[in-house]
Amino acid sequence: MMNRIITAVATLFVCSLQMPAQTLEVQHLANNNAIVRFSPNQEARYLLIPIEEKSPESDIKVICGNSLVRTLNVHLAFDRVDYYVPLDLQEWKGEDVKLLIHLPVDRTNGREQQSEICWSKMFLSDSYAKDNREKFRPSYHHSPEYCWMNDPNGMFYLNGEWHLYYQWGPYGSVWNNMSWGHSVSRDLINWEHRNPVLMPDALGAIFSGSCVVDHNNTAGFGKDAVIALYTSAGDVQSQSLAYSLDGGNSFTKYEGNPILTSDIVDFRDPNVFWNDEIGKWNLILACGQEMRIYSSDNLVDWTEESRFGKSYGCHEGVWECPDLFKLPVEGSDEEKWVLFCNINPGGPAGGSATQYFIGDFDGSRFTVDEVDRYLDGKALWQDYGKDHYAAVSFYGAPDSRHTMIAWMSNWEYANIVPTTQFRSANTIARDPFLYKAGDRIYLGSRPAPEYNAAGLDKTVKISGSCTVTLSNDKGEEFVIVYDQKAMTLSCDRSRSGITDFSQHFDRVAVAPVHRKITSLRIFIDNSSVEVFANGGEVCLTSLVFPDSPFNSLTISK
Ligand code: FRU
Repeated sequence: MMNRIITAVATLFVCSLQMPAQTLEVQHLANNNAIVRFSPNQEARYLLIPIEEKSPESDIKVICGNSLVRTLNVHLAFDRVDYYVPLDLQEWKGEDVKLLIHLPVDRTNGREQQSEICWSKMFLSDSYAKDNREKFRPSYHHSPEYCWMNDPNGMFYLNGEWHLYYQWGPYGSVWNNMSWGHSVSRDLINWEHRNPVLMPDALGAIFSGSCVVDHNNTAGFGKDAVIALYTSAGDVQSQSLAYSLDGGNSFTKYEGNPILTSDIVDFRDPNVFWNDEIGKWNLILACGQEMRIYSSDNLVDWTEESRFGKSYGCHEGVWECPDLFKLPVEGSDEEKWVLFCNINPGGPAGGSATQYFIGDFDGSRFTVDEVDRYLDGKALWQDYGKDHYAAVSFYGAPDSRHTMIAWMSNWEYANIVPTTQFRSANTIARDPFLYKAGDRIYLGSRPAPEYNAAGLDKTVKISGSCTVTLSNDKGEEFVIVYDQKAMTLSCDRSRSGITDFSQHFDRVAVAPVHRKITSLRIFIDNSSVEVFANGGEVCLTSLVFPDSPFNSLTISK
């Protein structure tokens, strides 16, 4: 058995990183384990961990004073370094920290293990590279500062600030170690990255959830406390609560967690809102292939009221990330409740998508209108593009709006899109609305008015069937086709640049059209195209990876 201390002296200058402030002591142990020791201080605030995405996952236990303070699953680099991720050591400053690392390889002894490149490429530093702007990094869409992101979580609006938390995997650009990252914006265009607010704990990883502002202190954590409900995902999934007394910048986890348990496997993504009509909180939760609805006076104790979903809509995948709120039907005096149900797979263009149900809700039970629209697997979709998922709304948006943001990717290929330093962005914010076409009601999504004066979009007037082609100097193109006879609007990205990373990527997305289209509003960014017909009656969101951004638009009949 080998038990040798090796001092890995960092000699490489990595990206824009500083020279190492301290050397790391690495001891190679039996059974594919190693211990790395160091003492975080001002010059050694971050441990820069070398990542190679194709390596199998190593398990890292962070140990402080002989207690386990964090566990991470990391694709440690064995043969080459794809990129570095920083582990912020601030909270263990001045202490002796040990990492107990277990490699997922079968090395017969510590000497063999030493050959992995990670040991010589792990550094302590006072900073990490923030200036890494890849060409596919969006210029005005929200994306994480670094590493992996999926669903938007816990969004709320307060005192002029839009708070956006998100499913964040801080130690690599593939899904793992789920936590809540945090960004804030005043204009829905420029986002400031703040410290993450919820990290995994003994109950599990932190999966999706929502936030409310408890103006009347119904939960007893304080007036105006921001209350987060999220899924603790360990061996089982259960619902937990955390509260913030500083406007959402930091949260304390409730000692009585979990507050809601079940014996079913997929039990997640709590979405809470205050329901004025019954003077209580309501909670909607995704449970396998249906939604469960609860009520509460205090956000901690929940009573199940009803279940919705069996035999309605698409059931080709797991139901996830629900939302439920009331909207006026534009051009009438009517109001309707809309239940949002993200589903993966089963979307209209394959993979993940957001279906919706229109109906009524009495604080206890949701009932759909026009049952025939949802029978036999039929479904209505909020966006027919391939890259609109986990759409949920901000709590407390101004002017009674229910502004929504969706994750702009698809589980079919999200982990392998051609970006490295970050993976995934969110859609622009959209205000959902209901409109009538014939005698039916449909959901539309209008770009938030914050974008109106920003000059980010192109609007084209059209009359009758036509093809709108976006292209660049390299001849790459994104083709939008309106077929007035067939009443469809479609997006074809098969010649839009890099598409070959997944066989699922270049499928044409087709949306049904309910009224004649007279205008297309198009938001193009470095790696996305969002198309809104008639101000958002029909929406298609698509990722693209062109050599250079599309800078030309042509219309042909
Ligand atoms: C949806 C989802 C959620 C879950 C989260 C985990 O994309 O699967 O149901 O809470 O992602 O990251």
